[in-house]
Amino acid sequence: MTQSVRILDYIHAPCTGAELAAFITEAFATAVHKDGTEAELVHRLRNDPARALQFPNEFVALDEETQELVGHVLLSRTTITTAYGDEIGAVLLAPICVKQERRSRGIGSVLIEECLRQCRLANEKWMVVLGDPAYYGRFGFRLFAEYGLTVEGDPAGELLPYSQVLALTDPAEKPELLDKARVDFLMGYAESDSSSVTVTMA
Ligand SMILES: CC(C)(COP(=O)(O)OP(=O)(O)OC[C@H]1O[C@@H](n2cnc3c(N)ncnc32)[C@H](O)[C@@H]1OP(=O)(O)O)[C@@H](O)C(=O)NCCC(=O)NCCS
Repeated sequence: MTQSVRILDYIHAPCTGAELAAFITEAFATAVHKDGTEAELVHRLRNDPARALQFPNEFVALDEETQELVGHVLLSRTTITTAYGDEIGAVLLAPICVKQERRSRGIGSVLIEECLRQCRLANEKWMVVLGDPAYYGRFGFRLFAEYGLTVEGDPAGELLPYSQVLALTDPAEKPELLDKARVDFLMGYAESDSSSVTVTMA
């Protein structure tokens, strides 16, 4: 059953930044992959000029009847660095969350579809996400390994089983450039050492 929700650009959301941050923290409390800093991550990505996108990139889902906040998603700029050192623009989907009591009613899907729509309107070519392939696969995301993509700063390959990429165009734009290319998911925001990494998943 799809819940009746309205998707709004964050700047039009009828809630304060603090209310949204509390919502995100609560929604992630039950997530399988979390580190408790998801609201802070949203704040940092939202305010990082290097991550800015020139199109609507942050959305909330509101219950159509009650106007209650039931979901949130953020898009930000990232890059794919090719084996030749060239940079290809990509969009990072992270994080996304839905109020615990409202899950499995299609709200997450509606938020992701809106993200895909905005990116395609803006002529973006690639979207990347760190998350469960069992969920993101249904939107067309493919594991990095299928394209030969790797993750920057992840020497042990811990993030690779969760690293996914989606071609926003059909056919995909020069997919051969992704072979042996790298994506920097950590973006300097997460602690890392030579043997392990910690990063928030979408
Ligand atoms: C992931 C999340 C945003 C999905 O929101 P949602 O509104 O429940 O999503 P949808 O209703 O569109 O899809 C629900 C389906 O996805 C599945 N699903 C949700 N999270 C999943 C996961 N991590 N792995 C595999 N499947 C997952 C559900 O089992 C459900 O399956 P069904 O359609 O067969 O019933 C929500 O579960 C959430 O907020 N989780 C906590 C935060 C989080 O973990 N975010 C990142 C996820 S990697």
